[in-house]
Order: sequence, then structure tokens, then C-alpha cells
Amino acid sequence: MCGIVGAVRSAAPVTAGLLEGLRVLEYRGYDSAGLATAEGSTLRVAKREGRLANLEAAIAEQPDWGGHAGIGHTRWATHGPPSDLNSHPHLAGGGGVALVHNGILENHEPLRRELEAEGVTFRSQTDSEVLAHLFAKELAAAHGDPVRALRAALGRVEGSYACAALIPGGGGARVVCSRNGPPLVLARGGDGCWLASDLLALLPHAPEVVFLEEGDVALVEAEGFTIHDAGGEVVERAPKAVDWQPGDSSKGQWPHHMLKEIHEQPGVLARGLANRIGPARDDVALEGFTDELLTSVERVQVLACGTALHAGMVAAYAIEQLARVPVDVDFASEFRYREPVVQGGTLSLAISQSGETADTLAATRLAQQLGARVAAICNVQGSSQVREADAVVLTQAGPEIGVASTKAFTAQVLAAILLAVRLGRAKGALSADAAGELLGAARQLPSQAEGMLTTAAREAIAEIARRHAAAKGFLFLGRGVSFPIALEGALKLKEISYVHAEGYAAGEMKHGPIALIDPGMTIVCLNGSSPLSEKMRSNVEQVRARGGVVLSVGSDPETHALASDVVEVPETHPLLAPILQVIPLQLFSYFVADLRGCDIDKPRNLAKSVTVE
Ligand code: AGP
Repeated sequence: MCGIVGAVRSAAPVTAGLLEGLRVLEYRGYDSAGLATAEGSTLRVAKREGRLANLEAAIAEQPDWGGHAGIGHTRWATHGPPSDLNSHPHLAGGGGVALVHNGILENHEPLRRELEAEGVTFRSQTDSEVLAHLFAKELAAAHGDPVRALRAALGRVEGSYACAALIPGGGGARVVCSRNGPPLVLARGGDGCWLASDLLALLPHAPEVVFLEEGDVALVEAEGFTIHDAGGEVVERAPKAVDWQPGDSSKGQWPHHMLKEIHEQPGVLARGLANRIGPARDDVALEGFTDELLTSVERVQVLACGTALHAGMVAAYAIEQLARVPVDVDFASEFRYREPVVQGGTLSLAISQSGETADTLAATRLAQQLGARVAAICNVQGSSQVREADAVVLTQAGPEIGVASTKAFTAQVLAAILLAVRLGRAKGALSADAAGELLGAARQLPSQAEGMLTTAAREAIAEIARRHAAAKGFLFLGRGVSFPIALEGALKLKEISYVHAEGYAAGEMKHGPIALIDPGMTIVCLNGSSPLSEKMRSNVEQVRARGGVVLSVGSDPETHALASDVVEVPETHPLLAPILQVIPLQLFSYFVADLRGCDIDKPRNLAKSVTVE
């Protein structure tokens, strides 16, 4: 999705810092990029379709390029294809201001017609350029007051936005910005102020950041920033310390962020458990999840998208089993439009790596309006999802840069299971012994995951991937709590290697997908020591009878004996098995994608955080 950076400094030039910020935002997915800088009243713009290198070349073509204030943008096309002209920033007001925008303006067409009738000439096909012209018009009407002008312009648009406008001026250039939907974060650092749509881009500048609230408008100058709330009042927003380090988002010696992040999982699991298992080792301490909150829970409504939804499906098995509370799991994008019934005593559980996924946020807000209390499992401190929840489990996985989610997923599953234990204990549904047994097994997870990520283990999976990379399709089968892992294995493979893969509940196979099976198909069968292993073995026999090639991933020796390839997964508590089973599937997808020459960290068409519908 699109990214925004901006800076106003008193003396130093901003271009290198803004380009560095855009580089950090690359992981979010983009197809073009641009930069505008101002020096006094001179405004310069460079924008190019394609990677940042193209933008840098465009800047190099302007020998007098410079400036102490600027805004930059990475665009992920929505209205109009990727092109130089459709890239941001957009100029308006006779080239007097430049504007960048993330989000979608739903009423851009009538506004465009209205502005055209007034004599405005549009240079792009984007919805965003409408906002640039509206802002320039209002700036003239407001006698140069950027806050009043932006508020007036935004008062005309419908939709979601984070935007920033650069206003050059003899007395010093300024940036004005606002958000309603997509995030915007500010920081004071060095000799100026910085802004970005993702706090990762601010890490090099300041250890503390300020998150704008919905409807805030901020005026950013070299000396500081002033925030006006949705009602127009000047407000102080408390700065938040960031515990991520600038280096956390670099891939170090690893060829890809995804491979690095897969290997970070033992540490992520250890952090997810640290200080959360109580002294008696039969309960879990989760800040904010009080007995008052938990004993009132009569139903849980999980809301999430993509990989996070798969973590939510595991959560459903764990919560129903351990806490005996019914759970519904919905695609956030479906929940928000299906006139859902939310009963009293519902806890809405949003699961999101970024905490900024538009569908998950909207669904959660709807659940809240309908009376649910809101909990979140989230990786990004300070994100909208975190700020809007009554109680939060932070997954502490560190920045996840690879578009394909790996370590955030295992951290979400662990957090969900810990929450299920806490809920079970608070509601008296889970005995101390049963909780102790599960938590004892959980403490083994970091070392078990470590054992699955040795060089030898990785090489073995790379070799299996070589044998299967040319398969015409993949069917992932799982039962019980391994069913969401079948879905996740298939999602991982298709998103980074662009091969067709489907995840299915193994019992469903004979109701349709069995027709796909022939010797060109690889069938990945997840198994463990659960009571369902015998049923899984029958499914494997059915696959073999039709010539399907079986890859067995799990700990059941009898299923392994039926397979052409085997990945051994250590034994654990059945509810924890997904955390270990998914690791080889992540590696398998990674190696298949690598063999197919795919852009693993930035798969085509995908964005890391989907902040629009
Ligand atoms: C995962 O590999 C995907 N990139 C995607 O499905 C992702 O999990 C989904 O968009 C939800 O994102 P979130 O966790 O940031 O809300």
C-alpha cells in the first residue's frame, strides 16, 4: 500500500532522509515513487514509475535539487495505472503546493467535475489529485492558513486518507498533514520534525513518536508540530516510546527478510512466553485481561484477514476447548457487510500484525458499536487496532518486513493460546493441572523451533522443495487444529511462488478436491499425535490410490510411512502443534519461490499492510 514520509528541518537538507524513509517503506508494496522539496518559496518535484532507483535518477537529472522541507510517497496504484503522471506528489495551485495521499477518496468523480468546471486542469487519473486541487483552492480562501485550508478541503471528501501537503514560503516551508483511516506518525529529531505513515521510517530519527488520532490535522515546522483535533482544538498527544531499533528492519546477512524472519521464530516464541506464565505455572498473566473482563465473556468473535485469520481459527479451537466459550471466526471484510448479530457478553478479538488493516479495523468498530468489548492481538504498539482495544496482547515479534507473514503468525497463535488459557482459568473451565501441562509444553516451543531451523533441517526442506517445485498444484490437508495450518501453508505458497495451492479440511477432500488428484499434484498432509491421526491416514491412502504424491509433515510415523517425502515435526501438546507445523511449510514456500525466481519479500500485486478496502 502507499507510504508517506515528510520532514521540515531548520538547516540540513531533507532529500537523503526522505529517500531513506521511502526505502524503509518499500516493503509495504509500491509501483511508483515521488518526492517534493521546498527551499524558501522554490518547490521541486520528481516522480517516477517503478523502483526508488528510478526516482533517484529523476532527482539526479535536476542539478539544482535541494531543500530543507519535503514530502515523499510510494504509490500502490488504485485509481489509474502506475505511471510517472499518476505518481505522487501532485502539484496544485499553479505549482504552489504539493500533496501526497494514502487511501481512497470515494467521491472523487463529482469533485473532479466540479473543479474542472472551475477551470482546473488535471494531469493524472488519480483520486488524490482532487484533494491537491481542493487544498490549493482552500489555501487561497484561507489566506494561506494551511490548517484551516486542509480541514476545509477534507470536509469535502468522503473516504479514507492520510495526507501531507508541502507549502513553500519565504518565511520557511511547512508541511500540513491529517489522517482519517490510514495511520500517520510524527517525531521530533535532530534539527527538525519528521512524519511517516509507518513508524519504522521514523526509527532513525527519534526514540519517541506521536500517533495522530482520527481527524487530527498537524502543522509541521522545523521547530515543532502543532496538532489540532477533529473539533479544531489544539491538543497535546502523548509521545510513545518505541522499543524497536532501526537495525531490526534490516535483513542483515540473510538473502531475504522472509528467511530471516522465519529464523527469528525461536526468539519470538521465547519473548511471547516471557513474564506471561504465572509463578504457579498454571495460569497466564496478560495485562488488561482482568477477571472482570474475562468472566463477562460469553462468546468470542474473531475478526481478521489472511494469515491473521488463520491464527484466529487456531484461537477458536483453543478457546472452545480450554474455556468452553463459543467462538465465531469471520473474515473481517465479510463481517462488516453482513448485518451481524452481536449478542451481549461478546468479546470481539481482532488479530492483526500491522494493526492498520482497514477491514479488520472497520469490523472491530462495528462489533464495538453493536455492544461487544474489544480485545486485540497485535504486533505494532501504538497502531490503531491497539489504541482502540479494551485489552491487548502485544505479540512482540519485532518488525515484520517480508510481505509473507511468518514470525507474526506464530506469535499470534501463541498469544491466542495464552489468552485461551487465561480465559479458561478465569471462567473456571480449565483445571490447574491441564493448564500446567499445556504451559509446560509451551515452554519447550522455543528450543523445539530452534531444532527445526538448523542448517541441516533447512537444507532437507530445500531438497524436498526441489523435488516438488514443478508440481502442477498443491493441496494442503489438515484436520482439527491443523486445518488452519493447511490453509496457511497454501496461502504462503501461492502468495510468494504464484503456484496454485489450496488448503482443505482433510475430511472435505472427498467432497470435491479429490477430483484434482493425479500424479502431478503434491498433497501436503499435516499430522500429529491427535486422535484424528487415524482419519488422516485414511485420507492419505485415498490420495495414494489416485496417484497423488504425498509430503507428510508432522509426527505420526504411520502417516510418514505412506509418504514420498517426510518432514518430522517434534511432538508437543496437540493445541500447540500448529506453531511447529507451520515452520517447515514457511520454509517449503520460501524455497519453492526461490527456485521459481520470485521476488520473495515483495510478491507481485501484494502489499504488506492493506489499509484500503
Ligand atoms: C500474509 O502472508 C499476508 N501478507 C496477509 O494475508 C496478511 O496476513 C493480512 O493482510 C492481514 O494483515 P494484518 O495482520 O496486518 O492485519
